[in-house]
Amino acid sequence: MTQDELKRATARAAIDYIAPKLEADGIVGVGTGSTANFFIDMLAELKGRFDGTVASSEASAQRLKAHGIPVYDLNAVDGIQVYVDGADEANAALELVKGGGAALTREKIVAACSDEFVCIADESKWVPVLGGFPLPVEVIPMARSLVAREIVKLGGDPVYRQGVTTDNGNIILDVHNLLIREPKTLERALNNITGVVTNGIFAQRPADILLLGTATGVKTFT
Ligand code: A5P
Repeated sequence: MTQDELKRATARAAIDYIAPKLEADGIVGVGTGSTANFFIDMLAELKGRFDGTVASSEASAQRLKAHGIPVYDLNAVDGIQVYVDGADEANAALELVKGGGAALTREKIVAACSDEFVCIADESKWVPVLGGFPLPVEVIPMARSLVAREIVKLGGDPVYRQGVTTDNGNIILDVHNLLIREPKTLERALNNITGVVTNGIFAQRPADILLLGTATGVKTFT
């Protein structure tokens, strides 16, 4: 199976998982990226069975609207029933690295508001230890050099993601060569650097369920 077929299969598994639970007044949190895009296209089948969505990026909001799916401002809803999103890496504790698509801050905000976080990923994302994928960190532009120096002190090699501005008007540093053995500790340490908006470790709020697309079918981890 191709990677796209695995992504499509895990998106389908997410639709099958959420469909029986959706409430008429329920809000679905929707993530960002190629796997989330498959999910968005399938979510259109469930239109009318839930109230609407909150999107983790402008790109996903546009895709949802193109399907005629309502998209709300997060401040206009009471809560999010379920959030479905991809990941760049996932470990056995369902801790994630996210932000390859630069949407990490809004993704983390949506995850924090959600009753349930369903991660959808193909098997290439499954790792024993997080950190092989360069860790995205969203940074206030004027603090770029300051934050880069502090990240070097933590043992990482930050690389400025050229030409990328986040939906929040900030820049991304991708941190190479970090073996993330203590995800919660590093998540806190990075967030503690002045000028960091957020970082792509999702350990304080990990996924609740991971639907992993593999060559032998979609595997469920909780
Ligand atoms: C977006 O910022 C990311 O967190 C994505 O969820 C992540 O990069 C996974 O993307 P793909 O589904 O495209 O691999």
